[in-house]
Amino acid sequence: METKKVLLTGGLGYIGSHIVVSLSDPSSAIIADDCSNCDLKQIDRLKQVIPFEKNQVIVCDVADLEAFEEIFKKHKIETIIHLAGYKAVGESVKQPLAYYTNNLNATLNVLKMCNKYDVKHLIFSSSATVYGPQSSPMDESMTLLKTTNPYAETKAISERMIEDYCLVHPEFSATSLRYFNPVGAHPSGFIGEIPSGIPNNLLPYVQQVASGKRPYLNVFGKDYETKDGTAIRDYIHVMDLADAHVCILNNPKQGYRVYNVGTGVGTSVLDLVKAFEKATGVKIPTEVTHRRAGDLQESVANASKINKELGWKSRYSIEDICKDAWNFEKHQSN
Ligand SMILES: NC(=O)c1ccc[n+]([C@@H]2O[C@H](COP(=O)([O-])OP(=O)(O)OC[C@H]3O[C@@H](n4cnc5c(N)ncnc54)[C@H](O)[C@@H]3O)[C@@H](O)[C@H]2O)c1
Repeated sequence: METKKVLLTGGLGYIGSHIVVSLSDPSSAIIADDCSNCDLKQIDRLKQVIPFEKNQVIVCDVADLEAFEEIFKKHKIETIIHLAGYKAVGESVKQPLAYYTNNLNATLNVLKMCNKYDVKHLIFSSSATVYGPQSSPMDESMTLLKTTNPYAETKAISERMIEDYCLVHPEFSATSLRYFNPVGAHPSGFIGEIPSGIPNNLLPYVQQVASGKRPYLNVFGKDYETKDGTAIRDYIHVMDLADAHVCILNNPKQGYRVYNVGTGVGTSVLDLVKAFEKATGVKIPTEVTHRRAGDLQESVANASKINKELGWKSRYSIEDICKDAWNFEKHQSN
């Protein structure tokens, strides 16, 4: 009998790769990815960090039920970590149907396979965007308000689909992890975030300014009601985020759970620029421009629930994050 497998949908992407290298037994991982936002060179990068076989990756669209089901016919899947989905907020506003089609069909198919093949555990990559425009710190007991974009809506609906499934499958264990702002890279420098085109997120943009790929950083708004006028986010090292998944895998519990995964510390745009300059010695020129539509003033987690219930706590500082991000950027440029 084959050993029980952990299936990571979208596992070749940024966060999935860091989870794979953090598993106590990476040989138990199977990745299903359609490569819509990554490429197969990621397999070679993973091989630099852990023993990993090419046949652990199956190129497959999770939103295509027939193709996805082939995996379950061949492997005994005990756990699914469901990361597959499109993730760009701005793009989701312009292409709502693409986001609803891909993200919701993927979650639906994951649940159908859990049902048909008796999968025991599910961890879902949710997002702090499900809170909508609420004040920080955000905690899991807050009622979810109307979200502000289709991407966030796909996360809120997916959470609801999983919760409803759990109601009629009380033996099933499912956890939605609401990620705040995952950043940074594996300390080896071999894996990290590889944005396609212009980075949507702050730190990847800062990295590209530091490496000379872009001339300066646009600071979107310096008139927020914050200590320095710039927007505040809760940046979490991607290795801390990966550890939170390992922590859930080691503490399965029947029923549905939701946890924020953040540090609980707010960092402004200018704080992050300063931390990057201090950690790397590289100066980041900035230019202040208008606010971006839809950006929240502040998004910070109350992370006490996962701290108390599972003992998980972030370990990396903002300087560690910047150091590892820069190390990865330099590896990429070489
Ligand atoms: N990175 C963030 O800032 C962030 C924040 C909150 C939540 N999340 C969520 O975490 C998950 C992983 O994010 P990431 O940053 O690693 O993104 P990513 O784009 O790097 O990884 C997602 C992977 O899913 C794949 N994919 C997309 N649709 C697919 C489909 N139908 N079938 C198979 N594969 C498919 C892509 O090719 C990609 O490799 C996503 O669901 C994202 O929405 C990310």
